[in-house]
Amino acid sequence: MKYGHFDDNRREYVITNPRTPWPWINYLGNEDFFSLVSNTGGGYSFYKDAKFRRITRYRYNNVPMDSGGKYFYINDGESVWSPGWKPCKTELDSYECRHGMNYTTIKGVKNGVEAEALYFVPLKTWAEVQKLTLRNTTNEVKTLKIFSFVEWCLWNAATDMENFQRNFSTGEVEIEDSVIYHKTEYKERRDHFAYYSVNEPMQGFDTDRETFFGLYNGFDEPQTVLEGAPRNSEAHGWSPIASHYVEVVLQPGESKDLVYVLGYVENAQDDKWESKNIINKTKAKATIARFDTAAKVDAALAELNAYWDNLLNVFTIKTGEEKLDRMVNIWNQYQCMITFCFSRSASFFESGIGRGMGFRDSNQDLVGFVHQIPERARERIIDIASTQFPDGGCYHQYQPLTKKGNNEIGQGFNDDPMWLILGTTAYIKESGDFTILEEPVPFDNEAGSEVSLFHHLTVSFDHVVNNLGPHGLPLSGRADWNDCLNLNCFSNDPNESFQTTENKSEGSQAQSLMIAGLFVVYGRDYVELCKVIGKTEEAARAQQHIDAMVEAIKLNGWDGDWFIRAYDYFGNKIGSKDNEESKIFIESNGWCTMAGIGLEEGMVAKALDSVKERLDCEHGIVLNNPPFTKYYIEYGEISSYPPGYKENAGIFCHNNPWIMIGETVQGRGDRAWEYFRKICPSYTEEISDLHKVEPYVYAQMIAGKDAFKPGEAKNSWLTGTAAWNYYAITQYILGIQPTYNGLRIEPCIAPEWKGFAVTRKFRGATYLIEVKNPNGSMKGVASLTVDGKLIEGNTIPLMPVGGTYKVEVIM
Ligand code: BGC
Repeated sequence: MKYGHFDDNRREYVITNPRTPWPWINYLGNEDFFSLVSNTGGGYSFYKDAKFRRITRYRYNNVPMDSGGKYFYINDGESVWSPGWKPCKTELDSYECRHGMNYTTIKGVKNGVEAEALYFVPLKTWAEVQKLTLRNTTNEVKTLKIFSFVEWCLWNAATDMENFQRNFSTGEVEIEDSVIYHKTEYKERRDHFAYYSVNEPMQGFDTDRETFFGLYNGFDEPQTVLEGAPRNSEAHGWSPIASHYVEVVLQPGESKDLVYVLGYVENAQDDKWESKNIINKTKAKATIARFDTAAKVDAALAELNAYWDNLLNVFTIKTGEEKLDRMVNIWNQYQCMITFCFSRSASFFESGIGRGMGFRDSNQDLVGFVHQIPERARERIIDIASTQFPDGGCYHQYQPLTKKGNNEIGQGFNDDPMWLILGTTAYIKESGDFTILEEPVPFDNEAGSEVSLFHHLTVSFDHVVNNLGPHGLPLSGRADWNDCLNLNCFSNDPNESFQTTENKSEGSQAQSLMIAGLFVVYGRDYVELCKVIGKTEEAARAQQHIDAMVEAIKLNGWDGDWFIRAYDYFGNKIGSKDNEESKIFIESNGWCTMAGIGLEEGMVAKALDSVKERLDCEHGIVLNNPPFTKYYIEYGEISSYPPGYKENAGIFCHNNPWIMIGETVQGRGDRAWEYFRKICPSYTEEISDLHKVEPYVYAQMIAGKDAFKPGEAKNSWLTGTAAWNYYAITQYILGIQPTYNGLRIEPCIAPEWKGFAVTRKFRGATYLIEVKNPNGSMKGVASLTVDGKLIEGNTIPLMPVGGTYKVEVIM
């Protein structure tokens, strides 16, 4: 069952039934000011950091789900309703929500009145702009009482939810003209406030929550709205809100726009006040003035759309597969931009207070957006590398506001360093900017500790080399990519965190085949980079370590039909046929096949066949099998999940593309394509009722074959799945690979594909690439011509900047 449809021309997903199985959301803003908005107007805003600068309040995991948001209430004399159906839940005559690229419109029709709310964050603006368009489609005059609503968060989203003995006494607002200012704590250490305005004289307002709702009412029935009369309440402590009251009289056929601005301001210490206790509103007023008419709002939206045209024009495909094209051309790239902005911090599954930016996550996210915004990728790489330690280890997470490593989670995840090599080489291959390698970058943000970024790559590589276990394989530390395989944490205490408890690492033999494969793949990238920049001795030194790792994997990591997953603390195998449960895992088989380990000896094909046989199912490839059915103290969190969920035999969509890429190493394009489609959201749209989450973006996890409800997805939006699937489809299946000196074309497709076309902007030139597959091959380029000229090999050399070049590839 579907709840809407794609509108590819407008790059929108159109939701036509507000009762989606889960809130289907969108993101507004992509620089400093951000909002999350659901298909019924739920969600919240923050400035840069969802924990430390939460502007509006949101109640996670509430009853009903998705409680709190940017609501409009309409009292038309007959009914009280909201354009997004919720929160009033008054039955609408029609409803439509359109989620587009960083904007959302929600339209409801009731009693002959159309109300359409547009939400977006204009470029370079610290504010969300909302345009509410009201249209009278009847032959009578309509008098509409319009109430807006947001609830202020007391800035720190964590303490906002716990420290009520203080919170209920601190709230302060100011009201001037049609603007409601939220200035809690402004007179002490904060230099920021928020505001909510409307571009009409308001005929009333409310800023005290309980007065607005009435003490016993929920979001669905605010007393003031039901009565059609605001109370002009001024909040002193308790819970400040902002609600404007505007009366609109519409003649038959007439329409009217109201523009609301929800903004954030920072003032310098000596410029905070206009007069005693009256805040300096200059900046707020300037922003409000930029959007005080509907025409200005429309122009700002057009700019945002043009910005997205540019971003999405860098890489477009035409394959004849509509569902594939819309993912690659629109939604997958969009999701990559969102993961760039938010890492794993704020979604409807990530509360914005738990995790900041992840070291491994952000590096992997980079491969999904580096072609769109290389300059911002550059900045991100420097930020990430600055949280590394001199020995190559690194903070697992850092806070976006301070850019400092997060002490609570600390370090010790031994895959982390290697991802920096991926992030950096992906950036240089895309941009050709080798100067980044010379950039001085500190350790642990310590001024004076700067070394070149290249040095950071060397210590990343050596962190693996210096932390090998008895089998010559990388020690896993707290965990490798799989945060839940905690091999040095023997926890019997439910109050301990699996992630931070490391109580048994002395003499540990816990080694990871996932890191081993990862080391071979990105170690080779490191070697290639060294050679390109003339560091031949370093290249040779590194190569020896890689060769040794390949041997160690073949010797101690091969189980006969697949690669084992790890050795535990005691040196026992995990993910081996000898194990009672979880005999096989996806990660080690993904990485070792991507690395092509034992390709000639048939290991790659065998491992992939075992994955097919034991891990694949209708909805994707599960992480491990058979699932753990009891708690293993020596394995940690992985065995805490019920079978079929998350890291215990769930379909962890992040790692399915590792197998897709592994299949392309083996040359089996049919298998890669089959796996791609299974988890791709546009292909699962038809089962939205089972799948539950948005059909336009990837989810982190789909319940696996052993779950209670296989096929049910969770944790949409913020997941490495976005970047990895984009990487797999564009670089390994379609095979358009940026390299240091050109675009390599190496498709690996299903034999029934007759070909496809790609437009790729790369280093200032545009390539119109036509791939033809006359003989039904899966892999291998027979010939490549650029503007009719035959090129040796399959790499398009860098062509003069500014030109457009026709490339024909025959497979
Ligand atoms: C984390 C990743 C981790 C993955 C697997 C995700 O939630 O963000 O860093 O690799 O889970 O455990």
